[in-house]
Amino acid sequence: MKKILVIHGPNLNLLGQREPGIYGRVTLDAINRELTKVAKKRKVSLVIKQSNHEGKIVDLIGRAKKGFSAILINPAAYTHTSVAIRDAIAASGVLTVEVHLSNIYSREEFRHKSLISPVVKGTILGFGAKSYILGLESIMDLIDAK
Ligand code: DQA
Repeated sequence: MKKILVIHGPNLNLLGQREPGIYGRVTLDAINRELTKVAKKRKVSLVIKQSNHEGKIVDLIGRAKKGFSAILINPAAYTHTSVAIRDAIAASGVLTVEVHLSNIYSREEFRHKSLISPVVKGTILGFGAKSYILGLESIMDLIDAK
């Protein structure tokens, strides 16, 4: 069975309570349940991690080559700051898709730059929790097409 690593970055554990006007009322658990359901239908298994720590995310990506067909990541605030996460993705060579709940380009200027986008296959943003589902489906389509 193909395995996909899902990584949620900092503060995404607070979804549901955190700035609901921007991120909605959906919790991380609900997103994870939905992702798992969608993956199961296509006989894909998910390993889902959330971390508030840059180094932990770097380590997860570094180990992903062994055992994972792809990575689905919402790097959250690290999107805009982390050369380390960007380099880890580039070094891993693992098919990676970036997702964001919000449209980072319609928000504060400091969110307009993603250090991650240039090293991923594609980015899906602005569709709330659905960004994750669209990201996962795109990854599974790419894996099937290989
Ligand atoms: C986010 C957008 C980031 O700018 C922000 O720091 C987040 C969440 C999103 O999913 O919309 O924490 O990645």
